Amino acid sequence: LAPAGAARGWVGAWAQETGAARVRDVFAQAFDDVTADLRVWSAPGRVNLIGEHTDYNDGLCLPIALPHRTYVALRPRSDSLVRLTSAQAPGEVWEARLEDVAPGAVSGWGAYVAGVAWALREELGREVTGFDAAVDSCVPFGAGLSSSAALESSVAVALDDVGGLGLGGSDAGRAALATACVRAENEIAGAPTGGMDQSVALRARSGHALLLDCRRGLDPAESAEQVPFDLETAGLAVLVMDTRAEHQLVDGQYAQRRDTCEAAAHALGTESLRELADAVEASDDPTGTLTVALDKLPEDVARRRVRHVVTEIGRVRDLVALLRDGRVGEIGPLMNASHASLRDDYEVSSVELDVAVEAARVAGALGARMTGGGFGGSAIALVAADRAEAVADSVRAAFEREGFGAPGFLLAVPSEPAG
Ligand code: ADP
Ligand code: GAL
Repeated sequence: LAPAGAARGWVGAWAQETGAARVRDVFAQAFDDVTADLRVWSAPGRVNLIGEHTDYNDGLCLPIALPHRTYVALRPRSDSLVRLTSAQAPGEVWEARLEDVAPGAVSGWGAYVAGVAWALREELGREVTGFDAAVDSCVPFGAGLSSSAALESSVAVALDDVGGLGLGGSDAGRAALATACVRAENEIAGAPTGGMDQSVALRARSGHALLLDCRRGLDPAESAEQVPFDLETAGLAVLVMDTRAEHQLVDGQYAQRRDTCEAAAHALGTESLRELADAVEASDDPTGTLTVALDKLPEDVARRRVRHVVTEIGRVRDLVALLRDGRVGEIGPLMNASHASLRDDYEVSSVELDVAVEAARVAGALGARMTGGGFGGSAIALVAADRAEAVADSVRAAFEREGFGAPGFLLAVPSEPAG
């Protein structure tokens, strides 16, 4: 899927057979007794088109699944032992007994995997046995492309299948698996993220963006809508620019944003900022309604955070309306506005992200923004398909001028969910 010149930072997606063959090899090397019945599951990384830092505010977001996937070869055991190996953590076998998996009790990358087994029991009351599993992935990790959600989701569909839980076959069942994966991430891996990443990994559809409504208590059937996202007919592509600069969600900044939003919602007498966003949306005078609410908040920082969340939810609605109207070529200005809001009001961008976004626009991108949690990670640009390489060149040159390390690139073709 990547244009020629992989050496220039392009990260191609593996064909599914390649991923499956690789991960079976990884399994064989660690556990040396591969049998013909060893099965493989996989789940995609993601980029978010718009709706950033809205999921934990009961808001809207619009992610797509990447063609880049995490593969897991998994075999159930008759006891409660979990043994894990990953091509991305070579030479190490992670082990735990299921009964020892609990919040605060396990660490390392295996927490994402064992956490899913824990959450299937805690959240859904489904028991699974121990298992041996191997992992291999072409989702760049720590790049804001949700390699962790891809890992959890691939394990979730694997355990669903081998345990005969029957959840993977329906959208409602997949929504339940997503909830379990979020609990694994929040409570066992200890990252206080929202639900966007796991939902898209499990519920995406190829050729579509997933409109997620993250309101608490919503019926799963109403919480996701498939929005056709046809880039090909329009001659467009979504270029992902991985800054390859540090990004660490567990380090407090993300949690701080979350706390500020919750405190602001409380101060405004609402359950979440979504309520304010809906009131602004329904008002005859949206700007006036927002200003009145912001004036009730004593601190400038909180006012700016809230303004981002409310305006970003509005931008999701506007962008979806354009897509439904077949006007994909016109979404660029909304992407640009989202980036400015994340940079100035929400303060989660970084110099590298700002430089990537600016360089992409200079080279003719129709719009560009950071994607994911921020503080590093990746940005996306909407580009004419035949300009992807030229835009990448511009970003590469800008990084060199600034003395940053070399960036990575991939194409975000809206792809299949976990399976
Ligand atoms: P991302 O944006 O990529 O999800 P995170 O920091 O949230 O970034 O998650 C990355 C972490 O997920 C890694 O540090 C590792 O613990 C775990 N992880 C993801 N993919 C793999 C993999 N293929 N093998 C082992 N661990 C993985
Ligand atoms: C991600 C996080 C998501 C979402 C996003 C910001 O990294 O996992 O749940 O909050 O940041 O939109």
